[in-house]
Amino acid sequence: MTLLAAPAKTVVQPRLEITGGKRLSGEIKVNGAKNSALVLMAACLLTRETLRLRNVPRLTDIAAMGEILAALGVQVVRGGEIIDLDGDNITQAAPPYELVNTLRASFFCIGPLLARMGMAQVPLPGGCQIGSRPVVEHVRGLKALGAQVTIDHGVVTAVVPGRRRRLTGGQIHLDCPSVGATETLMMAAVLAEGETTIENAAQEPEVVDLANLLIAMGGRIRGAGTPSIVIDGVDQLHGADYAVIPDRIEAGTLLLAGAITRSDLLVTPVIPEHLKAVLTKLEDAGCHLQVEGKGLRIRADAVRAVDLRTQPFPGFPTDLQAPFMGLLATAQGTSMVVENIFENRLQHVAELQRMGASIRLQGNTACIEGVARLSGAPVQGTDLRASAAMVLAGLAAEGITSVMGLEFLDRGYAALEERLNGVGASIRRVVDPH
Ligand code: EPZ
Repeated sequence: MTLLAAPAKTVVQPRLEITGGKRLSGEIKVNGAKNSALVLMAACLLTRETLRLRNVPRLTDIAAMGEILAALGVQVVRGGEIIDLDGDNITQAAPPYELVNTLRASFFCIGPLLARMGMAQVPLPGGCQIGSRPVVEHVRGLKALGAQVTIDHGVVTAVVPGRRRRLTGGQIHLDCPSVGATETLMMAAVLAEGETTIENAAQEPEVVDLANLLIAMGGRIRGAGTPSIVIDGVDQLHGADYAVIPDRIEAGTLLLAGAITRSDLLVTPVIPEHLKAVLTKLEDAGCHLQVEGKGLRIRADAVRAVDLRTQPFPGFPTDLQAPFMGLLATAQGTSMVVENIFENRLQHVAELQRMGASIRLQGNTACIEGVARLSGAPVQGTDLRASAAMVLAGLAAEGITSVMGLEFLDRGYAALEERLNGVGASIRRVVDPH
């Protein structure tokens, strides 16, 4: 008698099962900005006093950053959407390798550690699905502030020579308006001796949020939000109690959820100036937007094709390219989307095609011919924003869409399915029953 091998246990990937075709209605909340909170948390290293951050989203990336800071000696106390960070007793200047590897944003520690301790040792943030993510600008800028920086075996070691181990203000001209480099160099320069200028600086709202926090801590910074930032170094910074700005990328994603389901939906809070390029494109596509209290109400019935090209702020944000493409897959007409920021951020095209989208790819350009209806299918999110795009497509598709890749989604969107179900969606999170 031959024993049949027991069927291999099929490991079921956690997924969201979305029943499409439901109209949304009511009010949906926008959380604090992930890409601001992460760098604001790193700023706690710049002072011995407590930094209190409010409106901090509950995301896996935020928890990971908290672990990294705790490993450096920071007392981290989380209560709801408030985090208290006490950097009085920094015990070391090298976050542990195994923790850093889980979170690219841990590289934000290098600037403040160097400013506070006169040395820092942080592993190179690896590349990720969307591109190589170099830190050349960060390193060049730190050297311009007097640091000696070496990279060996994937670890960046930065040291401030001399007895006082204090950085010296300098002139920095970024080759590209890197958000991370601008933020890293602002945090390094804020305690340096003398004046620093950063030319060709990134202008994103998250850069302005960091500058506002550093100013609240006693820093002296002018020009954040413009291409030219001037920082007068001070001897020390004090603590602060500071609220993170609303997440403009999450707000844009939720507005797109309203558009793709042809709904009437209030998304709140939203700071319209943080999303001008996106709001213009939504209106060009036929959506009606109006300010209502601290939020924006979107109404969409017929949606037509528009062309997009991603650019640094204030241009169209690369982080909303994939979610917006989900909408364009269902729009009337043909759209051209060009991804200019990251070299590999069009992997959601293949997944949208599995749902019946008609898209042709040519290098960094996608040509999307809208279809009347997408059809539900099992799809994979390949990065944070691509996963969000698949959720949006599932909201509009005929039938059931299973979205895998929740480890990416949960990095950037807290309790997304609960919030969408709260305005009429039908989404179920399925995890492996074993
Ligand atoms: C920030 O990443 C955001 N992450 C990203 O959001 C966002 O997509 C990106 O800015 C652009 O807006 C956080 O804030 C944590 P960059 P960052 O340095 O700082 C090139 C999301 O989904 N570059 O502005 O890493 C780089 O390769 C994430 O929330 C260099 O060439 O972005 C990229 O092509 C994804 N040399 C472009 O600039 C450098 O030295 C933009 O990178 C640095 C960057």
